[in-house]
Amino acid sequence: MNTITRAAFIRKGSVFAVSVALLGCRHPVVSGHTPECQTTDDILGPFYRADAPIRTDMRVAGDLGAVLIVEGTVYSDDCVTPLSGALVEVWQADGTGAYDTASSDFRYRASLVSGEDGAYAFNTNLPGKYLNGSQFRPSHIHFQVTAEGHRTLVSQVYFEGDPDIAADPWASSAAAEARILTVTELDSGELLVNFDIYLVLA
Ligand SMILES: [Fe+2]
Repeated sequence: MNTITRAAFIRKGSVFAVSVALLGCRHPVVSGHTPECQTTDDILGPFYRADAPIRTDMRVAGDLGAVLIVEGTVYSDDCVTPLSGALVEVWQADGTGAYDTASSDFRYRASLVSGEDGAYAFNTNLPGKYLNGSQFRPSHIHFQVTAEGHRTLVSQVYFEGDPDIAADPWASSAAAEARILTVTELDSGELLVNFDIYLVLA
């Protein structure tokens, strides 16, 4: 982690917190989320598979797409209490836009468990795109997050600047606006996004 990048995230978060305070919203920590902080739902899609292996690196040697680091923290719906032991399932298309729907390798699929501080992180490659009718879906990663006492979240994240967001009915919806993530390019050339997850009590 580049400390400059970390500082940039903190600065961005501070600016957003101020704007939220001016709007009179209830919680100060809302980056990427509804005014109440809870992460919004998105469609599950047809490619979910249960029981992906627990791993923090989904990269496949030789595959396409820039290396992407995803990190974040899982919180309860008071917006500040981190949740340890949450199950974060992620899945995505490979660099060609294809999902691994059958192999025992569970390529570009992972299960993660949030740490004591609620944090999770994984490395992958930037997902490719696939057609939905005649329109490419924007690059995205699917999430399903399960934690005791909370409603299971099914959602997706998108990436700022993706030209296919505007025509995609899910990515362009108001509910998804906060899940279009800012992409930071590190000195190493790797890409970094932050996605904090705020669950709702069951
Ligand atoms: Fe998808």
